[in-house]
Amino acid sequence: MPELTASLGHRYFQETKLARNGPQVQRRPEIARTEPFKTYPEAEKIALPRDWPATEPDLAALLQQRRSLRKFTDQPLSLAGLALLLWSCQGITGRAGSYLFRTAPSAGALYPLETYLAVERVEGLAPGLYHFDVQGFQLERLRTGSLGAELAAACIGQGFMARAAVNFIWTAIFRRTMAKYGHRSFRYICLDAGHLCQNLLLAGEAQGFGGCPVGAFFDGEVNGLLGVDGSEEAALYLASLGGRG
Ligand SMILES: Cc1cc2nc3c(=O)[nH]c(=O)nc-3n(C[C@H](O)[C@H](O)[C@H](O)COP(=O)(O)O)c2cc1C
Repeated sequence: MPELTASLGHRYFQETKLARNGPQVQRRPEIARTEPFKTYPEAEKIALPRDWPATEPDLAALLQQRRSLRKFTDQPLSLAGLALLLWSCQGITGRAGSYLFRTAPSAGALYPLETYLAVERVEGLAPGLYHFDVQGFQLERLRTGSLGAELAAACIGQGFMARAAVNFIWTAIFRRTMAKYGHRSFRYICLDAGHLCQNLLLAGEAQGFGGCPVGAFFDGEVNGLLGVDGSEEAALYLASLGGRG
């Protein structure tokens, strides 16, 4: 099947296989490390509460009812509810030496992903673009004003995103993982992103909010909205979340 084997994705997969006595695809020490956490020191900070709502259904019920949702009610999310969602994706839950472990696993505990929020309806939070400061457990306001419509357009016109209470946008800072795992890193970074998104969707379900993952977007447009360069840091994955009705 030459049309499959000649494809870029297939070649990447083949050339990043680990094998005994094979090429060292995991080792690229010439890629310099970078900071494990990103913050915007100049940005206004919004503290996130930790008194989030108790959630009722058991795990099996949440898994059973999760379905990608593309029709949302106007119900706003509480700030505590949003805090629970962020904690579920990237909350710090343990320490071993200099490693700060989190709710979702990450290859090598390197945590290459950053979370940005396009907020539309969250109580006590003006619509706008925010960055999640993982270590400080706070939001950093990057821009005010609704950007749901702009974001939906940048995601190949997926209109449901404009009607979400909040859109999560995950970027990767590739160097964090690549400095250790070299060519194989892109596999790991994408796997990391899947963990975050499922945690988000389950934490949403537990609060009566449904969501939809989004992988189809015009890369340059989403990177442009966030103000990231698309090379050192680039948008990788998104998810819309809103009331289930
Ligand atoms: C990596 C990935 C990318 C996706 N991208 C989109 C997308 O851009 N737009 C969309 O409407 N759904 C998207 N989805 C949702 C899938 O269509 C959905 O998960 C699938 O149909 C299974 O349905 P379920 O999630 O309700 O179980 C994506 C899902 C994944 C895992």
